[in-house]
Amino acid sequence: MFVTFEGIDGCGKTTQAMMTYQYLRSRGFKVKLLREPGSTDTAERIREVLLDKAAQVTPVTELLLYEAARAELIHREIKPLLASGHIVLCDRFYDSTTAYQGFGRKLDIRMVKSLNRVAVGDLKPDLTLLFDLDLKTARRRQSGRRDRLEAQSKAFFTRVRAGFLEIARKERRRVKVIDASLPIEDVFYNVKKLIDQRI
Ligand code: TMP
Repeated sequence: MFVTFEGIDGCGKTTQAMMTYQYLRSRGFKVKLLREPGSTDTAERIREVLLDKAAQVTPVTELLLYEAARAELIHREIKPLLASGHIVLCDRFYDSTTAYQGFGRKLDIRMVKSLNRVAVGDLKPDLTLLFDLDLKTARRRQSGRRDRLEAQSKAFFTRVRAGFLEIARKERRRVKVIDASLPIEDVFYNVKKLIDQRI
C-alpha cells in the first residue's frame, strides 16, 4: 500500500505522517516513511538547492528538479519497498508538483502532469490524504526561518491550496480531504479511520 500526505506548508502533514508510521509499526506492518523531495542521497542534495533562499531557480528548472528528485526516490526506494511488501508513506508526492508548480507557478498543467508521469510511470498512490487548512493558521504554525518555497506570497499559496482542492474534486476515490484545523489527535483520528478502511 502506498499512501501520500499532501497540503500547503504548515498544514501539519509531517506530524500526521509520523503518527501514522508509529501506528502502523505498532500494528506489526513493515512500513517505511519517506519524504519528497529527498530520502535518497541525490534527492536530498537536490532538496538543498530547491529550498535554498539564495538559489536562483526559474519555474521550469524548479519543476525539473522536483521531478529529478522524484525519479530517484521512485526507482531506488518506493518501487523496491512496495515489491517487498512494505506499506510506503510519503510526505508529499506528485500532487505537490501539480499544486505548487502547476497552480502556484502557473506552469502548464498538462506539461506538469506529463513530467510527473516521466518520473513516476504508472504508479499511483492507493490513498492520498490532503490536509486542508486556511493560510492564516498555516502561517502561524510555521516556525523559524522560511525556506525558498515557504517565503512565497499569499496569492501563491491561495492558488496552491485551490489547486490541491481541485485535484481532490477530480479524484475523489484516491484523494481524501481532511480538516487540518482540528486538534492534532482529532486530525489523527480521521487519518486512522481512512487508513484502516484501506487496509
Ligand atoms: P516540505 O516543507 O513539505 O518538506 O516540502 C518542501 C517544499 O517543497 C514545500 O514548500 C513544498 C515544495 N514542493 C513543491 O513545490 N513541489 C513538489 O513537487 C514537492 C514535492 C514539494
